[in-house]
Amino acid sequence: MSNERFSEVDAWKTNMFLYNAALKEVGTKIEILNEEFLNVHNYNPIEHIKSRVKSPESIVKKLKRNGYEVTIENMVKHLNDIAGIRIICSFTSDIYMIAEMISNQSDITVIQIKDYIANPKENGYKSYHLVVSVPIYLSDGPVDVKVEIQIRTIAMDFWASLEHKIYYKFEGNAPLSIWNDLKQCADIVEVLDGRMLSLNEIVKQYKVDSDS
Ligand code: GTP
Ligand code: MG
Repeated sequence: MSNERFSEVDAWKTNMFLYNAALKEVGTKIEILNEEFLNVHNYNPIEHIKSRVKSPESIVKKLKRNGYEVTIENMVKHLNDIAGIRIICSFTSDIYMIAEMISNQSDITVIQIKDYIANPKENGYKSYHLVVSVPIYLSDGPVDVKVEIQIRTIAMDFWASLEHKIYYKFEGNAPLSIWNDLKQCADIVEVLDGRMLSLNEIVKQYKVDSDS
């Protein structure tokens, strides 16, 4: 292997190491917030957390799609979602609270916010997206690494998974009837999330005798 290739492999490995470290760092922060909540308020705002590093194939595809030459430098500079964390909560109100708790941490810098809950996408997609950077402390100093955080309810996640499957199956050209059905399902998700939230608020008012 030429020296140049060798240093490219090295740079790739270093970057992937950093993205994995950032996922661990942010993942731990989120788990701690969730546990603190359980201790203080007696409830878990987070249902579950998934994290992943984008595959090399997807990285190359996205760089090309966005018109960039496929280089490690462009990847680091232009892709925000190489390290991705998805937080699934029960209620829409939890989403904003979690986003705020993450953003308030002093070593987290919020780079971008996209609120697809207040402003859903045309297809009905809803989710709250944050791109943050977090310092990773290496032996010769800190390096800031970007992580994309998606926060959504269980119902929004259910919808997004099916939409994703349909989108890929039809390569973006699903029949109109299917898009209409999906849009209707998105409306149902919205109604369901609203009703589950108010039901939960009502239940919270009741004091149940724990001995009975
Ligand atoms: P991408 O190039 O798709 O990453 O979009 P972007 O860089 O403009 O960022 P955006 O915040 O819009 O989307 C980031 C990520 O959110 C995507 O990679 C998906 O994981 C998810 N996402 C966005 N829109 C949709 C959608 O319509 N359906 C589904 N299922 N997921 C979506
Ligand atoms: Mg993406």
